[in-house]
Amino acid sequence: MKKTCRMCINGVNVCFGIGCFDEMLEDIALLGRRWYVVTTRGGSMERYGWIPRLREAAEKYGAEIKVCRCVSTNPTTAQADEAYRDASLFRATVVIGIGGGSAIDVAKAVAAGIASKAKPSELYRKARPIRGSVPLVAIPSTHGTGSEVDGFAVLSDEETKSKAAIVSGMIKPKIAVVDPRLTRTLPQPLAGATVVDAFSHAIESYVANNASTLSRGFAREALIAIGRGLRLLDERGWNDLGVREWFHYASMMAGVAIDLSRTTLLHALEHPISFYHPDIHHGIGLALLLPFWASIVSRHAGPDLVEAVSYLGLGISDPVEAVKRLVVKLLGETPSPASLGVEPAEAETIVADAYRYLEPLVRNTPGYPFDKKGLAEELRRYLESWTKT
Ligand SMILES: [Fe+2]
Repeated sequence: MKKTCRMCINGVNVCFGIGCFDEMLEDIALLGRRWYVVTTRGGSMERYGWIPRLREAAEKYGAEIKVCRCVSTNPTTAQADEAYRDASLFRATVVIGIGGGSAIDVAKAVAAGIASKAKPSELYRKARPIRGSVPLVAIPSTHGTGSEVDGFAVLSDEETKSKAAIVSGMIKPKIAVVDPRLTRTLPQPLAGATVVDAFSHAIESYVANNASTLSRGFAREALIAIGRGLRLLDERGWNDLGVREWFHYASMMAGVAIDLSRTTLLHALEHPISFYHPDIHHGIGLALLLPFWASIVSRHAGPDLVEAVSYLGLGISDPVEAVKRLVVKLLGETPSPASLGVEPAEAETIVADAYRYLEPLVRNTPGYPFDKKGLAEELRRYLESWTKT
């Protein structure tokens, strides 16, 4: 089978497959010769040799390169503003986001900031309009966010006490390099947590009020690919490149699905959790909430949800049980509120915040409108139930 393939997906020039990283370096050089590289603080892209390879390519093609190891899990507008200042001083003509979704999201905010002559925090708070983006290259090293093919840059903002997205078709990458070799740097349980994110995107998109025939097609494809990846995972383990390739593909398909339909209550409730607990990985927060979300959606869109989980091929028709099994397969255990430091008493704030700044996602959920107080009470009981079992 051919290892790499190029195709324009959702307006992004995607190269997918093992070997794409090396294949696309010349294409990146054609975009411009001043590369500003945004990556995560942990430095895994440096350690595993991917940033050194970018440096070699810069030298080969006569490009200047500057690397900013400035992004944390749950990146902030302050981090994005700092990177924007640095990239502007460097006079970047190309921004490259390499690493997890957080690196790509900050890279998007920086690229949009340069083109719009505005700080990312101003774009986030809608104080200044987005006018475009300098050419952006997304090189994902995780199989979760699908950020390489969507128009979202998710940031946490201390001033407005929120974690939401800059949303614009103008911030989509110019090029996405989706090479599964990069995902092998991702250890467990982080690897599993990112798949939980991709799965959440796919299943939320499938049942969303905004779902369309087209968005459902991408969501279905992602769910089938996650099922294929899980079966291969049982046989070969996380180090297998074939397993990683299925999950990387699923993440990208699910990214397109949510770009078309947006996410729902699950993401609306998770974002406040990882805003107040910035050490909680987004995928782990979603894993905590998935059974709660599935039980609510089952009441209002049961047949659609049953259909969606059937594409995983787990042989479990009850959606709540299916999501629980999936989480255990991917993480080894279900995260409990206590293990994450989330208190049942936070339920009211979490629901209030979801309505305060993510209402479009709440509205996108089957069963909307909800009784807001009742929803908070149900979430509190759900979080409490863990301590009773
Ligand atoms: Fe997500």
